Amino acid sequence: MPWEDLRPIFRPETVHMGVMTVDQEKCTKCGLCLENCPFRAWETDEDGFPRQKEEYECFSCYNCMVPCAVDAISIVDVYHVDDGFYASDPHPLPAKMPLEPRDADGKLDEWNAIERAVFQRRSVRNFRDKPVPETIIRRVLEAGRFAPSAGNCQPWKFIVVTNKALIDEMDKATYNVLNMIFTTYKHDELVKNLVPMYEADPRPGSWDPRVILGGIGTIAKGCAPTFLNAPVVILIAGDERAISGPEINAGICGQNMNLVANSLGIKACWLGFSQVINMVPPLKEKLGVRDPWRIVTAMVLGYPKFKQDGVVPREFRPITWFREGADGPEIEE
Ligand SMILES: Cc1cc2nc3c(=O)[nH]c(=O)nc-3n(C[C@H](O)[C@H](O)[C@H](O)COP(=O)(O)O)c2cc1C
Ligand code: SF4
Ligand code: SF4
Repeated sequence: MPWEDLRPIFRPETVHMGVMTVDQEKCTKCGLCLENCPFRAWETDEDGFPRQKEEYECFSCYNCMVPCAVDAISIVDVYHVDDGFYASDPHPLPAKMPLEPRDADGKLDEWNAIERAVFQRRSVRNFRDKPVPETIIRRVLEAGRFAPSAGNCQPWKFIVVTNKALIDEMDKATYNVLNMIFTTYKHDELVKNLVPMYEADPRPGSWDPRVILGGIGTIAKGCAPTFLNAPVVILIAGDERAISGPEINAGICGQNMNLVANSLGIKACWLGFSQVINMVPPLKEKLGVRDPWRIVTAMVLGYPKFKQDGVVPREFRPITWFREGADGPEIEE
């Protein structure tokens, strides 16, 4: 593929990082927002108050807000891209809290237990150095095993790693690949060398600024290890022959596990970067992953170091309704 065709993907313009602000009247300088930002976007100012760095990435996850006991952080702007390949649609992006629940008669209701679990779940990336009992891991795995799958093909296998030396090896191997990718991406004279990698797996989402600058950048700069120092890693291997493809089946299976983990008092984070293991054949072999299987995704689990869950706003994308009795579509924004 000619470089010029790929330039909009590898060199996007008009990318606006999320902007957050801290109310210094409320802030107690506990530092938890700094620790809980997946992209390490914050630093402390001369007076010890958090502020976003001069150069930073922020994809508006709002994880910095959830550990703040005094509600000192608020949103100034949501991550968005004005033009080009990754342009936000819709633009501007509205972020809203969950709409209030109503019952079948339209009366105000309360969230049920499942809704609460869905809205309050957050990706947890700071874990205590405490093992998770195997009985609990087993319950999480069982939730995955009973997930729906296309044609009931159940195209997943779980590889559970609690061995610290092996997790360390996985961290190092994935770091080496991600650091190479990040370094190549950042240099204008080298970035074209990534074209063959794109051609081998032409998914532009892998080069979205939130991934390459935010996620990969954080790992490459040594700010956080790929597997987040978690005591448990569950790699989800998917079968290439899966009906509807391995990704969607593994995703549904993984979210079953994620929600059940949360219900059992342990917390979880998805780990898409685990796919990098597929690019390291000796490690893939060591983990027992052979064709037609490959690592599709992973989940890390553990006990949270501090409170990292809670409800945050999310983009409200337009919903198109074709209502019974209506003349045409009605778009809710
Ligand atoms: C498919 C998938 C892959 C992800 N991969 C990673 C990852 O490699 N590392 C990470 O820290 N978070 C990862 N996440 C977590 C997302 O960043 C997170 O879900 C998103 O920012 C929304 O935040 P929330 O989960 O707290 O709602 C992944 C999530 C999904 C669904
Ligand atoms: S919204 Fe997310 S990415 Fe942005 S500063 Fe807060 S924690 Fe970091
Ligand atoms: S979490 Fe809240 S109180 Fe703690 S440093 Fe951040 S803004 Fe201040």
